[in-house]
Amino acid sequence: MSRTSEPARARWAGIPDLPGPDATWRLARDGYAFGLRGYRQVGADAFHTRLMGREVVVARGAEAAHVFGQPDAFERRGAIPRSVVHLLQDDGSVQQLEGQRHASRKRIMLDLAQEERAGLVDAFRDAWPQVAAEYAHRPVPVREVASLALTRAALAWAGIAVDSAREQALSGDFDAMVSRAGAIGPLNWVARARRQRTEAWATEVVQDLRARGDRASVAGGLAHHEDEGRPLDERTAAIELLNLLRPTVAVARFIAFAVHALRMHPDWASQIRGGEPAATRWAADEIRRFYPFFPMVGGIASEPFGLHGEWFEDGQWMLLDLYGTDHSPELWERPDVFNPGRFATASPLSVVAQGVGDHLAAHRCPGELATTDLLVATLEMLTQGPAYAVPEQDLRISLRRMPAEPEDGMIVVFGA
Ligand code: HEM
Repeated sequence: MSRTSEPARARWAGIPDLPGPDATWRLARDGYAFGLRGYRQVGADAFHTRLMGREVVVARGAEAAHVFGQPDAFERRGAIPRSVVHLLQDDGSVQQLEGQRHASRKRIMLDLAQEERAGLVDAFRDAWPQVAAEYAHRPVPVREVASLALTRAALAWAGIAVDSAREQALSGDFDAMVSRAGAIGPLNWVARARRQRTEAWATEVVQDLRARGDRASVAGGLAHHEDEGRPLDERTAAIELLNLLRPTVAVARFIAFAVHALRMHPDWASQIRGGEPAATRWAADEIRRFYPFFPMVGGIASEPFGLHGEWFEDGQWMLLDLYGTDHSPELWERPDVFNPGRFATASPLSVVAQGVGDHLAAHRCPGELATTDLLVATLEMLTQGPAYAVPEQDLRISLRRMPAEPEDGMIVVFGA
């Protein structure tokens, strides 16, 4: 064999197997680092393994993201455990649709979450100092403050009036849906019960918006959306309303990481405090890239596809490793270093923390730009708004815990 044919042979040898039996225990043990450890072990950016008894290909990097992000290439139905589906998107939601029906539903989600996002950010700028004052002078996990501020902002933006008891309950329920999505058994069931309570509330909201003929507000626009000329059934409209509100409140997890980043990187904190707009936006994107949040997205191939020289039939289950891709040395120089300055040249769209492909045609998150704008507002308010102190605490972040957060919950004291 000639020396030059070696690399070609390796390329066409296809994707290696992860040695050992079913890797479900490794996923539970390694959390976000499941993929990274596997790639290191097999010496490639993808591997075959079994999870929960099912054959799967796990992959990261540019080629995997490109293949996975093709419109209608991978169906979401059947690709993630039902316990997760019920807490996050739910049956009948945009994420479970494909083709024409997905496009129509995605259009309205983008019209609201993306085109109307300035109103959401303004409402958040109003809510943050109010909530910070309500929590003043006592230690509190910043996620709790941020969840309440985001719930208040999201409801005001959507045009839904609630009393403060309902606002508190919704804030806790939305947070629990994300916190417990990875749990199995009783913790997941409790969160599902809370989800059902929230769904009943959202159905009443939809009924009320329809009875009042409100088409002008964000929630009213969604309640009156029609798929192929027919209004959504009440439950589906309620689920989509929750699909705008719940992930908006989940931005609280990134806000806790923003506090962490400012604490750990005083050089960037002072640039942001100095009102440097580019630095603030870069830091928002670096927070989305660097910190662990949504670990992977799963799909079932709707058509045959090629990856790393191997050919797969339709029906193949694939997990695209979002955390692994955002930490891939192929795509990012020194990926494990927090460095907002990389966005002086890198495109924020290369960050895959919120999915891949085109925002309209693929399943990429319609709230991606809103998330970045909310983080920009957060960084500005953290450095120029209500003062806060960060008491002594364990700031380590374990990659084993899903969803991840600083060990002691990122405690702050406002008004300090
Ligand atoms: C908190 C930060 C957020 C994270 C980490 C996040 C993450 C993601 C990810 C990874 C996906 C892709 C799922 C897939 O490919 O199967 C997704 C889809 C989605 N996200 Fe987000 N998201 C966030 C914020 C938001 C916000 C603020 C909204 C709405 C205002 C939103 C609404 C949605 C919806 C409706 C989908 C389904 C889109 C589709 O299937 O076409 N997300 N999100």
